[in-house]
Amino acid sequence: MDIIADRILNLSESETLAMSRMSRELADKGHDVINLSIGEPDFDTPEFIKEAAREAMDQNYTHYTPVNGFAELRKAIVQKLKRDNQLDYTENQIVVSTGAKHSLANAVLSLVNPGDEVVVPAPYWVSYREIIKLAGGKPVYVEATLENDFKIKPEQLEEAITSNTKLLMINSPGNPTGSVYTKNEMSGLVEVLKKHPHVYIVSDEIYEHIIFDGTHYSFAEFSEIKDRTVVVNGVSKGFAMTGWRIGFIAAPGEIASACNKLQGQITSGTNSIAQRASIVAFEKDPGEIVELREMKKAFLQRRDLLLSLLKEIPGMKANTPGGAFYVFPDVSDYFGKSDGKRTIQNAKELCMFLLDTAHVALVPGEAFGDPDCVRFSYATSTDRIQQAAERIKEALKKLS
Ligand SMILES: Cc1ncc(COP(=O)(O)O)c(C=O)c1O
Repeated sequence: MDIIADRILNLSESETLAMSRMSRELADKGHDVINLSIGEPDFDTPEFIKEAAREAMDQNYTHYTPVNGFAELRKAIVQKLKRDNQLDYTENQIVVSTGAKHSLANAVLSLVNPGDEVVVPAPYWVSYREIIKLAGGKPVYVEATLENDFKIKPEQLEEAITSNTKLLMINSPGNPTGSVYTKNEMSGLVEVLKKHPHVYIVSDEIYEHIIFDGTHYSFAEFSEIKDRTVVVNGVSKGFAMTGWRIGFIAAPGEIASACNKLQGQITSGTNSIAQRASIVAFEKDPGEIVELREMKKAFLQRRDLLLSLLKEIPGMKANTPGGAFYVFPDVSDYFGKSDGKRTIQNAKELCMFLLDTAHVALVPGEAFGDPDCVRFSYATSTDRIQQAAERIKEALKKLS
């Protein structure tokens, strides 16, 4: 008999973290590795937020907090949702957790019974599949293709929904694709959801503030489905605060209470100092935070640079992502090609080849449910992006 329980044995290791580990190991051996596998902004947290954390410590905000977060923080989140998303919530509909990942896990564990189906557009963010599995749910993938800008169509959603469907888990702007659903595209999906009132929606909006074309629209803004939508968001990406571990849900009261109950038995209220710092982050209009405007400007420049460099590499087919900091090109033209020593069969092997030969770390699409693609993160300097593209281009010339 195994020591470890099946639910853990059945979990996969996060491939994004695995790639970062391998690239670190290579760097430790003295190689100059360009790591484009990273899922976090390479910018520092704005100073006024750090200052609030220092003050919190001085004021002894070092004790347990309410399980669902400080009332002042939930109030700031309610104001944020009104200001940025035109959404009305009350403070008891907000649950603050240890990062958006934790919020997602709370929501899925609170809603999904063993055997329930969860519709997930693929490519999807790595942890969705594993969180659904932990809850005993059955992921039902809907293929979003490069041709359709990695977004699903209403008829695909209609086809995927059955009487066993409990949830749709959707993410815009998306990881790994950077794709952003327009209000119109969302409206098409909402028309389908209206016909199926037993289906709940988890809308992961963690990249809300990193959007280049148009504006962010939340699924909860459609009043027809708001009472079955769980908005997941946080400070990690938009405020360059990944290490602070603050995420939240905004949800119908019953779901918020369930998440609160679950969290009360596992983590309790999250870190007190990070919560105090997040209050000042949410209180400000993000458009007025200079550091965030600069970060977004830099991401846009890098996106355009990376896209123009990828265009010069034969066999890299990419769309133009509207947000986040990823590009997800199709590299399947290289499958079946060889450098004389090994033949590349899939994205994973191509990533290993590029790590070994070009010392550039990418994440294989298999991790996100699309084995034809690889994920580039451009959360690094333009110089490094340029060097990485040159090295990749040279390495790929060896394959024929
Ligand atoms: C789509 C998506 N959702 C959620 C998260 C998790 O965010 P957090 O760091 O706040 O847990 C990530 C982080 O990579 C993400 O890419």
